[in-house]
Amino acid sequence: MSFLEMRAVSKVYGEGPTEVHAITDIDLAVDRGALVAIMGPSGSGKSTLLTIAESLEEPTSGEVSVDGAALSTMSRNDKARLRRRTVGYVFQDFNLLAGLTAGRLLNNPEWFLR
Ligand SMILES: Nc1ncnc2c1ncn2[C@@H]1O[C@H](COP(=O)(O)OP(=O)(O)OP(=O)(O)O)[C@@H](O)[C@H]1O
Ligand SMILES: [Mg+2]
Repeated sequence: MSFLEMRAVSKVYGEGPTEVHAITDIDLAVDRGALVAIMGPSGSGKSTLLTIAESLEEPTSGEVSVDGAALSTMSRNDKARLRRRTVGYVFQDFNLLAGLTAGRLLNNPEWFLR
């Protein structure tokens, strides 16, 4: 089994006349240690694919597993642990919180341990 596996993954945002089919029926297998680039024009669904692989978004349909574990069976805490320990993600938009400076985090090491 590959480290990352996606089977028939689709994501639809919104519904009705405003719905957007961001990705449709994606199969992807990435082995541990492989270097993979996903390329496509703006709006083609690259970020959508990555946020699903990282368990931040749920697919509308399809299955995703990381390191042998199906994301659909994981609790919220399991997914948070996965993101903390197994999957790294550099956001396209930084999503930084103004109050959470590096200094505050260093002064509160227990925040890292949750
Ligand atoms: N939260 C959302 N709600 C509604 N539509 C969304 C949302 N996120 C993405 N989309 C739509 O889904 C499609 C894919 O967007 P996505 O951001 O995954 O593309 P991308 O390939 O990462 O683009 P870019 O190269 O500009 O970063 C686009 O049509 C986008 O407008
Ligand atoms: Mg993007």
